[in-house]
Amino acid sequence: MKIISGPASKELAEKVSELTGFQNVPVSAKIFPDGESYVRLEGNVQGEEVAIVQTTCPPMQDGRLMQLAFMADAAKRAGATKVTAITPYLAYARQDKMFLSGEGISVETVARMLKAAGVDEFLTVNIHSEAALAKFPFPAKTVSAIPLIADYFVKKGYKGAFALSPDKGAMYIAQQAQQVLGGDVGHLSKTRDRYTGQTVQTAEGLNVQDQTVIILDDIISTGGTIVGAAKILREQGAKHVFCGCVHGLLIGDAEKRILDAGVEEIVGTDSVPGAVSKVSLAPLISQTLKGAP
Ligand code: R5P
Repeated sequence: MKIISGPASKELAEKVSELTGFQNVPVSAKIFPDGESYVRLEGNVQGEEVAIVQTTCPPMQDGRLMQLAFMADAAKRAGATKVTAITPYLAYARQDKMFLSGEGISVETVARMLKAAGVDEFLTVNIHSEAALAKFPFPAKTVSAIPLIADYFVKKGYKGAFALSPDKGAMYIAQQAQQVLGGDVGHLSKTRDRYTGQTVQTAEGLNVQDQTVIILDDIISTGGTIVGAAKILREQGAKHVFCGCVHGLLIGDAEKRILDAGVEEIVGTDSVPGAVSKVSLAPLISQTLKGAP
């Protein structure tokens, strides 16, 4: 197998190559003056199975999706026998059903587009809803980075911290963290208005008095969910509040608003390279590629 370094995940792809021993294929990329994307594989993939590592987080998530499709097409045209797309953050994954009449299911459209481009298999990390993968037109799998994030906090001395999910649906995330942290686990309740996007959070029956609490979520976008959760935790007497997320998009001033709300540290992964991407997905992706349990 060879690892193709997508322009959006060059460092991560190089780490995966190092850990797996699979040869790295660099990619040259440019954006034309009119905004269109261009990619070119700079290595031989004839007769090889390839894995393209390319995240599709903002900025430019549409462009990054197109780059992924173009790399898959280029690999197939250059004679690759199988193309696996490794897309740590999958754009449009949250539109995984028709919430209102007249909508489409964006994540399925994206998957079909990738299939048409030449993708044969797909790997992502903590997709918002695993059920969406069942509708993909190729074998598709999601793996969880939550144990790695929890381990980051253990190494910082927070073994025994309370693992909190900001809503009931993400409770499985808090439970995965709890397995590593060894403390208590719980969740807030969150309801979202589908027209305005506004959310309301409540904390029935939660006891976090004097506890160190780590809020865990798959995605931080505007930061509203974490800001709301942090305020509730402070009101409930939590001693320390941290936040761990897989995909730290941190749109606009989200990072500042979260820290201003009393969160002491935000920890994300390199699915979204940036200031909070303190945990690398390279070991997880490498183990998965090597077929480790
Ligand atoms: C939603 O259910 C997700 O798990 C996240 O909680 C959500 O996407 C975060 O969005 P925001 O940061 O804008 O509140």
